[in-house]
Amino acid sequence: MCGIVGVVGNKRAKEIVLTGLHKLEYRGYDSAGIMLSENAEFTVKKTPGRVAELEKEVVGIDGFSTGIGHTRWATHGEPKEENAHPHLSKSGRFGLVHNGVIENFSELKEKYLTDVTLAGETDSEVIVEVVDYFSRKGLDTMSAFTSMLKEVKGSYALALIDIEDDSRLFLAKHKSPLLIGLGEDFNLVGSDAMAMINETNQFVEIMDKERIVLTANTMTIYNENNEEVVRDAYTAEIDASDTEKGLYPHYMSKEIDEQPAVMRNLIQEYLTTEGASKIPTNIISDMIESDRIYIVGCGTSWHAGLVGKKMLEELTGIPVEVHLASEMGYDMPLLSKNPYFIFLTQSGETADSRQVLVKVNELGLPSLTITNVKGSTLSREATHTLLLHAGPEIAVASTKAYTSQIAVMLLLGKALGEEKNRKVAKELDLIHELSIVAGVMETLIDDKDVYDRLTREYLETTRNAFYIGRGLDYAVSLEGALKLKEISYIQAEGFAAGELKHGTIALIEEGTPVIGLISNEVTSAHTRGNIIEVESRGAKAMVIALEGLDKPGDDIVLPHVHSLLTPLVMAIPLQFIAYYASLHRDLDVDKPRNLAKSVTVE
Ligand code: M6R
Repeated sequence: MCGIVGVVGNKRAKEIVLTGLHKLEYRGYDSAGIMLSENAEFTVKKTPGRVAELEKEVVGIDGFSTGIGHTRWATHGEPKEENAHPHLSKSGRFGLVHNGVIENFSELKEKYLTDVTLAGETDSEVIVEVVDYFSRKGLDTMSAFTSMLKEVKGSYALALIDIEDDSRLFLAKHKSPLLIGLGEDFNLVGSDAMAMINETNQFVEIMDKERIVLTANTMTIYNENNEEVVRDAYTAEIDASDTEKGLYPHYMSKEIDEQPAVMRNLIQEYLTTEGASKIPTNIISDMIESDRIYIVGCGTSWHAGLVGKKMLEELTGIPVEVHLASEMGYDMPLLSKNPYFIFLTQSGETADSRQVLVKVNELGLPSLTITNVKGSTLSREATHTLLLHAGPEIAVASTKAYTSQIAVMLLLGKALGEEKNRKVAKELDLIHELSIVAGVMETLIDDKDVYDRLTREYLETTRNAFYIGRGLDYAVSLEGALKLKEISYIQAEGFAAGELKHGTIALIEEGTPVIGLISNEVTSAHTRGNIIEVESRGAKAMVIALEGLDKPGDDIVLPHVHSLLTPLVMAIPLQFIAYYASLHRDLDVDKPRNLAKSVTVE
């Protein structure tokens, strides 16, 4: 949440910062700001709303070679100009951008800033004033910056400009992501590699509690003990074009369409041409020791975990629990004797998930992060990592990461099950089955006009909607409902189909849309019965059924896939229904209100 980008030593500083901010808008888009500086001449422009608004404010402002920018997801204080970053200290000497939450900002204000009237309500404004305070006490800038950091409790990624020496950027990181990008005769900093990928593919990681002085040609990293740290750069594998929409109107539509390619990619990444697993053996040997697997995630990742539970239990015979990270961190269940933790997180930066991982590490327990972002915090801090290989996912509504998470758990379950000599795992040919899934996904993706029409028919004017299913379909119904509500603002709930009659059916009235999911032979008749029950009470029921379980009049029939893999194809129409519902209501599909892609606050 919140995106930071900065550059030092490049006359195109404004353009570089604005391009970076556009790429970081997925992290928050309540307000945006930029500070440009050179030889003590500087300008700060901030605006509520999107980076596009900020761009209008800086037309004609050129020639600066140092810059920092910020795109905000409000935590402290409403999205208005005064609360937007960069924050300039009252003396006019220091400008700062911050991502994270300073928990003790009120105490710092009382201790150091009794004589300062702050412009806004943010925790971030407090810390730039604390730097200024120490500087006025006679400390040089690095010492003032360090003194401020010693006082701060919470999470931060920071970039600071000192107007009196604007050939340097002062950077620090703790629990919020920050990365250095190396250019030729200039250097960069950003919340992620995508923000800098148009300028460089050479990056240097920053570890928690490190401070950095960055100039056009040097990078000096200090650890917590004030020792200099030498760290090599790495080459990023992402391509600038991966982060573009191309001819697509929205990132979400592009990312939905990419799912067949992701499935094929995963086959190549995790299976040999003979079908043997390429998952590192140390992951399997750690997991085989466990008597219970705990899957942890939030939102869509938690939903993928619910699907993964059924797959892993079936393929490995190991019991699996799925937990919401935001609950588990402060309400740890009684753990089994040999627990194994799987963290599902597209971004690898989600604060709720990370706080569970911190506790798991304190307990000395083994863990695996399944993430899309190599080198992300949860990847670095878990024992092992498996990557989603889905390519950058930019739309706030997660699509390809969800199906990729499910497929990776399937590949993991098969590898582990085979090692445990489980017949069901040995018989599952995932090259074959995932290839079929990829083909079916393509067929479904070709039916966009059907989803467009059905969305108009069922969801055009409604205020609410229900998704119902049993077993894996129930897990997918939760995801379908989340997708719909987050981007169309239609109040939507996913329900176990059999559970409606125990209370929720009271909400069904004339015209209430109910989307019934049917992919399981054993429960299909029961779910059909539940659909008839809601129709009898006036509901308009849209039925999505797997071929073979379909009936005349069903709205969507999914071509047949293996029974364990049905969520991978059931997800596609649900993603499109949410997409078209958002589009028909003329909403911002990729950047829904109040949300951000990477949720780095608890
Ligand atoms: O990066 P993560 O997978 O940890 O993110 C978890 C959730 O914030 C995320 O899945 C969220 O629910 C999506 N916006 C759903 O589309």
